[in-house]
Amino acid sequence: MNVTVFGTGYVGLVQGTILAEVGHHVVCIDLDDHKVEQLRQGNIPIYEPGLESLVKENYAAGRLEFSTDAAAGVNHGQVQFIAVGTPPDEDGSADLKYVLTVAATIAEHMEQNQIIINKSTVPVGSADKVRDEVEKVLERRGRNDIAFDVVSNPEFLKEGSAVVDCQKPDRIIIGTECDATIEVMRELYAPFNRNHDKIIVMDVKSAELTKYAANCMLATKISFMNEMANLAERLGADIEAVRKGIGSDPRIGYDFIYPGVGYGGSCFPKDLQALIHVSNTIDFDAKLLKAVESRNKEQKNTLFNKISQHFHAELKGKTFAIWGLSFKPNTDDMRDAPSRVLMEALWAAGAKVQAYDPEAMEEAQRLYGSHDHLILCGTKEAALKNTDALIIVTEWQNFRAPDFDLIKEKLTEPTIFDGRNIYEPRRMRAKGFTYYSVGRPSPLESSYLASN
Ligand code: UDX
Repeated sequence: MNVTVFGTGYVGLVQGTILAEVGHHVVCIDLDDHKVEQLRQGNIPIYEPGLESLVKENYAAGRLEFSTDAAAGVNHGQVQFIAVGTPPDEDGSADLKYVLTVAATIAEHMEQNQIIINKSTVPVGSADKVRDEVEKVLERRGRNDIAFDVVSNPEFLKEGSAVVDCQKPDRIIIGTECDATIEVMRELYAPFNRNHDKIIVMDVKSAELTKYAANCMLATKISFMNEMANLAERLGADIEAVRKGIGSDPRIGYDFIYPGVGYGGSCFPKDLQALIHVSNTIDFDAKLLKAVESRNKEQKNTLFNKISQHFHAELKGKTFAIWGLSFKPNTDDMRDAPSRVLMEALWAAGAKVQAYDPEAMEEAQRLYGSHDHLILCGTKEAALKNTDALIIVTEWQNFRAPDFDLIKEKLTEPTIFDGRNIYEPRRMRAKGFTYYSVGRPSPLESSYLASN
């Protein structure tokens, strides 16, 4: 099938590439000609395991094209994906301007009946707005003879495993009430719809809400666990034991119940805010969502509070090693990353930071390169040199079994603040570290000695 994808961001690029990989002929359109040129040369603007080779292979095979020519793009595709960004407005609502601009562009150039697929995460009611926009332009062109449908087809990929998530979706949500559209969508996704039928057809608004409901549910699980971790810490319990204890109940499950430094990234914070905003506009008090968001904001301060308490609020002149800057492992993305809240708080308190991340160094340089209290280090060991403590913010695989003797040697005091619970408190104590983690007995509490 001929497919056109508007937007070569995370979702558009991954989705377009995966559709090409299964044999569709995909044209990806982007306004940014530099980006298009880079993609043609196989230079991928994001770090995503497996993506680069797939882009290169499919581009070389002619199944995947990149272009700025919107008119040609529109007339290439039997379906038109809208996969552009919906950044939050100042009030937290999702800004639809890019989505609506693409809708107008499609309407401006379409010469045949079209299926327009909303892939961007957009508030309930957005498909109607896209429909209105397209109708308006077709009307102006005097082309009301062209029929079209707007489908909501949300994407559930995770950064760091986007390729695999896209190749093996848990479900394919299709929001439309048009039978002919359902048939085309089934054909489009047939290569991914193996083993059992993963396609779930529903009305457009339910499909739009499904995406928000999924992300808000996952964010709720995380904030719930962070709340339990705070309780466990104060009660002298160990949240890691509690996590295993509750995860074994299949109704709860082991996924997304890891306590930590709060969720970040480009989706959860933005989608929570957007749904809260929508609720406000219809006079609905989304109590739970607000609590999830506020717990998360506080959780991002948890490491700073522990550090401040340990050093009796005297952080001026201290230097800290930070391991992990991206909002989670296997990505270079630092959007809403907990590391940013922490670094900014440390700087405000007069401390310096020596940081290392396996992938996010360029991004950190872009964001904070000129900050005179930040040194970006080439290795995790270099970041440790003459620092007052090590802080772990992201649970990258290669932080899990470091050379602890070397860490001890390099730190002025053997103190570790671990925001992801990647080490065992008992082992750390045996090795002579003062070890803080999340939701486990703190070295500041008397219960710490008893339990270790
Ligand atoms: C998320 C959704 O998982 C995905 O389905 C949706 O399409 C986009 O948003 P992503 O933002 O890539 O994906 O990351 P995810 O793996 O979900 O992690 C989000 C945040 O939650 C990270 O900051 C992570 O560290 C945190 N997290 C996750 C926890 O703190 N504890 C957990 O148990 C799981």
